[in-house]
Amino acid sequence: MSILDKHGILERNATLLLIFSFLVVTIGGLVQIVPLFYLENTIEDVEGMRPYTPLELTGREVYIREGCYVCHSQMIRPMRDEVERYGHYSLAAESQYDHPFQWGSKRTGPDLARVGGRYSDEWHVDHLRDPQSVVPESVMPKYGFLEAKLIEGEHVQDLMETHRFVGVPYTEEMIDNAQADFSAQIDPFGDVDGLFERYGEDSVNVRNFDGQPGISEADALIAYLQMLGTLVDFSTFEPDASR
Ligand code: HEC
Repeated sequence: MSILDKHGILERNATLLLIFSFLVVTIGGLVQIVPLFYLENTIEDVEGMRPYTPLELTGREVYIREGCYVCHSQMIRPMRDEVERYGHYSLAAESQYDHPFQWGSKRTGPDLARVGGRYSDEWHVDHLRDPQSVVPESVMPKYGFLEAKLIEGEHVQDLMETHRFVGVPYTEEMIDNAQADFSAQIDPFGDVDGLFERYGEDSVNVRNFDGQPGISEADALIAYLQMLGTLVDFSTFEPDASR
């Protein structure tokens, strides 16, 4: 009996075929999945990535709470039209401190993965207050109430601890200084040495983002938007294809 004839037995017996198909799929699945348990990291480390500052992390919470992800993605695919419009395609490492990630699934508005630095803070204030005042055909809702909502960052320490719990490498020092760093980022005339030391001088924007006294949710949200996609320097970045 040739090997093909033996295979014929399987093809004529539905139960046997099912059992053997199951075996094949199981082995194939194991081959793909098991190595992942033994790899320490499946994300290529990229220079420049750092965890969010307390103010940015708070802004990110506002972003999630307001459902910005419903209309905006944060994931540039490696296709020519996207790369020409939005910039370098997104790297896995750029979402490594995002819990949950904000890739989104629909673009009613543009992708925001690299919106940081594209507009001035004033533009963002105007745009959040009344999107149609800067882009007349915009269908984005108004978020002017965010600048009226003053916050003090009393929960930011807990928030950072939660993120550390799921794997973000916040140090003890970062957590201890959470609230001080939260306020420091809004005050260019204050003491920002600690903030710079912990998060890096080049990548942290210290400004009064909404231009008004006090720290508002708009400050936090704009701090977050202005850093999106700015951490990795793509003029020197080279993908490591050896992995
Ligand atoms: C109903 C869908 C919708 C929601 C919800 C929404 N946006 Fe938008 N957004 C848009 C559209 C459409 C545009 C493009 C027109 C414009 O600039 O207003 C846009 C543009 C933007 C831009 C400018 C992007 C660029 O590259 O020009 C930013 C920044 C932005 N939105 C931030 C936000 C934030 C932050 C939130 C949540 C607080 C949010 N959006 C919620 C639809 C939305």
